[in-house]
Amino acid sequence: MALLRTLVCSLLAAWPVCPGLGLPLAPAGRHNPAPAVGQFWHVTDLHLDPTYHLTDDRTKVCSSSKGANASNPGPYGDVLCDSPYKLILSAFDFIEKSGQEASFMIWTGDSPPHVPVSELSTDTVINVIANMTITIQSLFPDLQVFPALGNHDYWPQDQLPIATSKVYDAVANLWGPWLDEEATLTLRKGGFYTQKVTNNLRIISLNTNLYYSPNVVTLNKTDPANQFEWLENTLNNSQKNREKVYIIAHVPVGYLPYSNNTTAIREYYNEKLVDIFRRYSDVILGQFYGHTHRDSIMILSDEKGRPVNSLFVAPAVTPVKNILAKQTNNPGIRLFQYDPHDYKLLDMLQYYLNLTEANLKEESNWKLEYILTHAYDIEDLHPTSLYGLAKEFASLHSKQFVKYYNYFFVSYDSSAICDRKCKALQICAIMNLDNISYADCIKQYYIKHKFVRFFTD
Ligand SMILES: *[C@@H]1O[C@H](CO)[C@@H](O)[C@H](O)[C@H]1NC(C)=O
Ligand SMILES: *[C@@H]1O[C@H](CO)[C@@H](O)[C@H](O)[C@H]1NC(C)=O
Ligand SMILES: *[C@@H]1O[C@H](CO)[C@@H](O)[C@H](O)[C@H]1NC(C)=O
Ligand SMILES: *[C@@H]1O[C@H](CO)[C@@H](O)[C@H](O)[C@H]1NC(C)=O
Ligand SMILES: *[C@@H]1O[C@H](CO)[C@@H](O)[C@H](O)[C@H]1NC(C)=O
Ligand SMILES: *[C@@H]1O[C@H](CO)[C@@H](O)[C@H](O)[C@H]1NC(C)=O
Ligand SMILES: *[C@@H]1O[C@H](CO)[C@@H](O)[C@H](O)[C@H]1NC(C)=O
Ligand SMILES: *[C@@H]1O[C@H](CO)[C@@H](O)[C@H](O)[C@H]1NC(C)=O
Ligand SMILES: [Zn+2]
Ligand SMILES: [Zn+2]
Repeated sequence: MALLRTLVCSLLAAWPVCPGLGLPLAPAGRHNPAPAVGQFWHVTDLHLDPTYHLTDDRTKVCSSSKGANASNPGPYGDVLCDSPYKLILSAFDFIEKSGQEASFMIWTGDSPPHVPVSELSTDTVINVIANMTITIQSLFPDLQVFPALGNHDYWPQDQLPIATSKVYDAVANLWGPWLDEEATLTLRKGGFYTQKVTNNLRIISLNTNLYYSPNVVTLNKTDPANQFEWLENTLNNSQKNREKVYIIAHVPVGYLPYSNNTTAIREYYNEKLVDIFRRYSDVILGQFYGHTHRDSIMILSDEKGRPVNSLFVAPAVTPVKNILAKQTNNPGIRLFQYDPHDYKLLDMLQYYLNLTEANLKEESNWKLEYILTHAYDIEDLHPTSLYGLAKEFASLHSKQFVKYYNYFFVSYDSSAICDRKCKALQICAIMNLDNISYADCIKQYYIKHKFVRFFTD
């Protein structure tokens, strides 16, 4: 199935999009007609910078460059700046014109720009979220969207509270057209909600910003906003009612793939989430995050080391980087494909904008970057398939891993090299979400590689 679809698309890859992909394909000489495929978009980390404008004084191009000279600014943005409105519109415009039929979209937060806290306020943050919401609603009046709050969707940033607030209230109103009454109720109280997509598929939108390390509001709290209790109850009910669940949130669970022994959320919360996700892994068929601005996967294994859940971190639309960083990401958006009978994930299509090229040509040519099953020659996105791939990544001189590392930055710089230490951190973060197995992985990988180096280098 997946192979057939990817083959068709690779033949069509000369077109800017692959039209018709994911729609029921004509049975190509098979006895059984290919089943229909469900699709949904994932967009994240839009980070609109309303101050972006082209001007001779490069320190004045965008406030998100924080006084530095923009590096090579053009109409679609700059790597030292958050997104110009034009960049964000180009992404949505591409989605609209892609010809892809999607039954919904997930949008995992972070709308305001990276600027000092003093340059924003509760009202400016709400205005940016409102701008993005109205932009999406007017471009896609009939599309069901499931949003999640990001750590920048608050003022001061990261300090999302455990009780109702002006921001929670504002988003409950803004997102009202997409959400039902019960969902807006919990959103207003704690920034999270659940809602059914179909009769037996449910979205759980978590406010993992409550667990984010810089959030001082939740320091020492065992269950901020009672979200853990609510999550367990929600999953337990889903299990009883034979529903399947997609988890969406901004800050991901697990370890950051570029630093040693660092979880994105506090370690204690990470262990709690991992425990819940393990207990309900039969109900959860996918987890979707943003926040790191990079393209990465994770596989959750149970206590016995068996892969039980697939997790996907989507790259950002904003290309912004820290002035000291060598790499950043090209703007990216993605489309998931699932089996509409059982909601298992079949494939993912990653699209991107080559920012350098877009600025040069003054034209936004969003393109397919890769199709997951095709790029890595795997069957589907089930945990066992991704686990097999991760084991392949881990092998010495893995070509698949070189590819993965290029996609990690959304093809920003294919000459970027991931050395031994870098690779150990990547692999251990992909394959281990709890502290004990992660520590074990780092230890083993190091021993193994010193050993290999001793004999082969
Ligand atoms: C920005 O570039 C100008 C012109 O090259 C230079 O004079 C100025 O020092 C730069 N400013 C900063 C903050 O780097
Ligand atoms: C959103 O912000 C952009 C840039 O500041 C502006 O051009 C646009 O009109 C705004 N749209 C809405 C719906 O507020
Ligand atoms: C959290 O607990 C630590 C250690 O028990 C304590 O030093 C700190 O003051 C507490 N912080 C808050 C915000 O309660
Ligand atoms: C779901 O809740 C029931 C009743 O409280 C409990 O017995 C069961 O163990 C829970 N399921 C899981 C997977 O924890
Ligand atoms: C990893 O980080 C945790 C939490 O900060 C710490 O308790 C633990 O000692 C660290 N492990 C190693 C091997 O450094
Ligand atoms: C793992 O996390 C748990 C829960 O926070 C903690 O009790 C334990 O000490 C940690 N273990 C290691 C090896 O870091
Ligand atoms: C992006 O465009 C630039 C300029 O045209 C080009 O040098 C670069 O190779 C392109 N990158 C990719 C991944 O196509
Ligand atoms: C990570 O940190 C631990 C503890 O500080 C250290 O033992 C280990 O060698 C480090 N691993 C890597 C890959 O840097
Ligand atoms: Zn972000
Ligand atoms: Zn974030």
